[in-house]
Amino acid sequence: MRDYVTFILNNEVQTLSGFAGDTTLLAWLRRTRRLTGSKEGCGEGDCGACTVVLARPDADGRIVWRPVNACILFMGMLEGASVTTIEALSDGAGGLHPCQQVMVDYHASQCGFCTPGFVMSLFAAWCNGDGLEATAIDDTLAGNLCRCTGYRPIVDAGLSLVGSDLPAFELARRQTEAELMAEIAHDETVRLSDEGAARKVAFVAPASAKDFTEFYAHNPDATIVSGATDVGLWVTKQQRHLPVMLWTGRVAGFKETVEIDDHLRIGPAVTHQQAMSDLAARWLDFGEVMRRFGSLQVRSSGTICGNIANGSPIGDLAPMLIALSTEVELTAGIKMRRLPLEAFFRDYGVQDRQTGEFVSAILLPLAPAKHFRCYKISKRFDQDISAVMGAFKITVADNVIISARLAFGGMAATPKRATHAEVALQGAPFTESSFRAAAAHVADDFTPISDMRASAAYRLQVARNLVVKYGLDLTGAGSVRLAGRSGLSLTGVRGM
Ligand SMILES: Cc1cc2nc3c(=O)[nH]c(=O)nc-3n(C[C@H](O)[C@H](O)[C@H](O)COP(=O)(O)OP(=O)(O)OC[C@H]3O[C@@H](n4cnc5c(N)ncnc54)[C@H](O)[C@@H]3O)c2cc1C
Ligand code: FES
Ligand code: FES
Repeated sequence: MRDYVTFILNNEVQTLSGFAGDTTLLAWLRRTRRLTGSKEGCGEGDCGACTVVLARPDADGRIVWRPVNACILFMGMLEGASVTTIEALSDGAGGLHPCQQVMVDYHASQCGFCTPGFVMSLFAAWCNGDGLEATAIDDTLAGNLCRCTGYRPIVDAGLSLVGSDLPAFELARRQTEAELMAEIAHDETVRLSDEGAARKVAFVAPASAKDFTEFYAHNPDATIVSGATDVGLWVTKQQRHLPVMLWTGRVAGFKETVEIDDHLRIGPAVTHQQAMSDLAARWLDFGEVMRRFGSLQVRSSGTICGNIANGSPIGDLAPMLIALSTEVELTAGIKMRRLPLEAFFRDYGVQDRQTGEFVSAILLPLAPAKHFRCYKISKRFDQDISAVMGAFKITVADNVIISARLAFGGMAATPKRATHAEVALQGAPFTESSFRAAAAHVADDFTPISDMRASAAYRLQVARNLVVKYGLDLTGAGSVRLAGRSGLSLTGVRGM
């Protein structure tokens, strides 16, 4: 067991101990290291001003560079990774990096507060050789907000980088980064703590599933942290004291997505970004909703299981997973059980999770889902939480609807199925009018609330309309989707 964290900052190895486990990378960079290029805007993962780039090898040993929001990333989550900040981009002799130079060339900065974040997002895409094309640039930059320049020059700056040469200093930087990451790799559990402090916060990063499970079985009050895109805000916005945090992200087996029998098994540390292409390849609409899930920064840290475990009634994944008949796997010590996902959500903020149990996987059936469709309704296209989320799946034989699963988010205290509307569909002819008739039953299933995202009346109307839209979409009775934007990198077909 190590009581220190080891990572690379701008190609220098860092070994740190004796600090509070809830210290964020941004606080450490700005206050301790005085690296103030990464800005603090919102402090909650929304604006991207604090974007830095985190490199790690993937399962095949290939290094992947991810943009992440440093304001909601805990220091312990850096174990073994390489962090690059805006300060390290130049060529070391005063010359700008290509990702900086294009921002100058295209007049893509005014007050400059957002600029380091934009440059770091471009830098991550440039390193990966993916995400700067016209079909992808909007998604690459969706997590960075600019109040003064306007996005066109920033987008043009990004587009101009496609196919640009790799300067020699950058090749050398990458080689050093890879060598240092190999040098610091180890398989010991890390436990960080500020012993002696009045308000102690420990951060435990087990290196194996056994260590993780044993620790949680003995410390069921610990706060599990996966991507910290929710938990980070408990610290930065709510100033909550979390005495012990337990991180899933260092257990190699937790990062796996595997096909087992007739299921896709997604482990507790699989991020949205990691899972996205797999899910999109199987279920087109799933990928489209994920493309609109937070931003690239949020998807690069946040996990699928974290989104389920938090039990939010407006989480985007639960309705889609419920429509697909997903099961959740819960583990406590040596005991493991599985239950249908809809049964996991009991009430607002209450899940069927017993003391010492954690979400060890979700299991998606690989059965064909020809008539699976999802619709996310939010005020903005990018980076917005749903007002209503509908995910639907029916099976049809001989022009008759045999089974129906209609799941909604934003309509009740938990993600929930519209059982009355489902019954109305079952056995009905596969025609537009059956969906119109079923839509009338949505009011029997839900009594939504009014909040800042939408009024109760709006929610009910939208939910009914989505069932009608689904019918029109499937039966081909009308064109019901907006034309896709140019940035439809995953599917090239659909808007929502
Ligand atoms: C800017 C921003 C935009 C967002 N946009 C969206 C959006 O569009 N749609 C959406 O649905 N959500 C959105 N979110 C919410 C959040 O990103 C997701 O809920 C995310 O999937 C949470 O995963 P995580 O790994 O970061 O969870 P964490 O923050 O690490 O944990 C979340 C909760 O789950 C618990 N937990 C985590 N893993 C486990 C486990 N394996 N077993 C048991 N408990 C566990 C934690 O203790 C905590 O209670 C957004 C958040 C931010 C900051
Ligand atoms: S400061 Fe806004 S995302 Fe971090
Ligand atoms: S240049 Fe001022 S916020 Fe973007």
